[in-house]
Amino acid sequence: GAPETVTPTGARTGVPKTAKGQQGAYLTTANGTRLRDTDHSLKAGPRGPILLQDHHFREKITHFDHERIPERVVHARGTGAHGVFTGYGTAERLTTAGFLAKGRETEVFVRFSTVLGSRGSADTVRDTRGFATKFYTDEGTFDLVGNNMPVFFIQDAIKFPDIIHAGKPHPDREIPQAQSAHDTFWDFVSLHTEAQHHTIWNMSDRGIPRSYRTMEGFGVHTFRLVNAAGETVLVKFHWKPKLGVHSLTWEEAQMLNGFDPDFHRRDLYDAIEAGAFPEWELGIQVFPDTPEETFAGIDLLDPTKIVPEELAEVQPVGRLVLNRTPTNFFAETEQVAFHLGHLPPGIDVTNDPLLQGRLFSYLDTQLTRLAGPNFTQIPINRPHAAVNDMLRDGFHQQAVHAGVAPYRPNTLDGGNPFPAGPDDHPFVDVPVTVAEAPKVRASPASFDDHFSQARLFWLSMSPVEKEHIVRAYAFELGKCYHQAIKERQLRALANIDPVLCAQVAAGLGLPAPQPSEPLAEVAPSPALSQLGREWPSD
Ligand code: HEM
Repeated sequence: GAPETVTPTGARTGVPKTAKGQQGAYLTTANGTRLRDTDHSLKAGPRGPILLQDHHFREKITHFDHERIPERVVHARGTGAHGVFTGYGTAERLTTAGFLAKGRETEVFVRFSTVLGSRGSADTVRDTRGFATKFYTDEGTFDLVGNNMPVFFIQDAIKFPDIIHAGKPHPDREIPQAQSAHDTFWDFVSLHTEAQHHTIWNMSDRGIPRSYRTMEGFGVHTFRLVNAAGETVLVKFHWKPKLGVHSLTWEEAQMLNGFDPDFHRRDLYDAIEAGAFPEWELGIQVFPDTPEETFAGIDLLDPTKIVPEELAEVQPVGRLVLNRTPTNFFAETEQVAFHLGHLPPGIDVTNDPLLQGRLFSYLDTQLTRLAGPNFTQIPINRPHAAVNDMLRDGFHQQAVHAGVAPYRPNTLDGGNPFPAGPDDHPFVDVPVTVAEAPKVRASPASFDDHFSQARLFWLSMSPVEKEHIVRAYAFELGKCYHQAIKERQLRALANIDPVLCAQVAAGLGLPAPQPSEPLAEVAPSPALSQLGREWPSD
């Protein structure tokens, strides 16, 4: 393949060295036989029929017939970019993870996405955005699979198919193609009121970002860091964009959907190719790892809750710069496969029941989406760390494994190359011994608080942000056909804030209900507002 070149702006372009299928000066078959004609099928006489023996015809058509793979079941619409992460060294006391060491540079691939639209849907819809980062660290790949909102709709992964079925287009008409403006979405979030916090984020300006370059990112769940002494802390990951957080107005978003449905994709590529490399700072909120797994009374295992930055500041640990666009959308952006279980030593999971379910789901779906168990061998998914596993065979196996004993220890193939020792990733004792715990289909009592943080969000907004939120609820709920669903959602809004509820009710021409539970006493968090924030600078 052609060598990679660096443009005057510093952007890197060209076919990566791994590209196969574009070598030599002549067109060939997939087996390298030179072709002289690819425009005429082989026929019995000029008027046909076509002969079965035309291998080139059959190979060309067959390959084309199988070009498509299933789109992701969620986050199907996305765009990606390559970049570099540089550690600050500020997390060294908290974790052994080497990529966070001072000045250490690690290659990354980031994929941004919408959640609900199909692969060809528009960019500037009202929706949550995915922010998934693959760090190719020399201790193994680390995937931070986050969103641009710090909370999620549900507290237990067993409801994930339900919220997605409710949010995707109705099964009969396959509408709406745009997000959230329909009965099943509002039916779900008004019945499962734990979703109200994420929903108010969606109705805020955060639901229509100006650019991927102006979005925050959040790991959402609480993770556990482990240091060299085996000591642990709990953390939440945050990405802060250097450009600050900016959104579109609803009118702009609507017009862009028509004028340029690829607006965010184009914006990211144009910026990188012009040398305006987008940057984010990675930060962590750090909490003591106590048996209760709470901080300031907030349950750290509940993914519908944040810890306001006024209570735990975000400490910068490194910087991300995106400086290269993909050469081939399919090979890189479409085939990249993220997984929350891809963790380097020093970063570990917690018992958050949403996180635990995700650990199962991603590999499972990728076995279908990428056809078999060997997709870690696709170039974009290959770790940059050395790999020496005992996984063998399977569809699309690329490796030619040597030796006769793919099991450890053995006496025939060099014995055991992984002797146990002090360098091993220390396993963290989970607070509850699973064998002793009663089997229950239940959640902790703290998970029953569904409104206090939606109220915190509302009360932290500036007047103009509040106005946009009211208009968004009124517009989206106005699209529902079922009066009972609108009324149930208004009852949920009454439990968030009576002013919010009254204004949305007025927009819908319906009476405003009274709260059914006492309103939470919360101190507003100025850090939640998009306006008037300070962002990382050099
Ligand atoms: C895909 C984030 C919850 C299942 C994704 C992607 C992101 C993401 C960013 C796109 C990855 C890419 O660009 O390829 C999140 C966040 C969640 C969450 C932040 C909650 C905090 C869940 C849950 C499940 C789930 C609870 C299932 C139990 C999936 C699946 C995909 C996906 C199946 C498609 C993966 C693929 O085809 O490669 N998610 N997700 N997610 N997510 Fe989630």
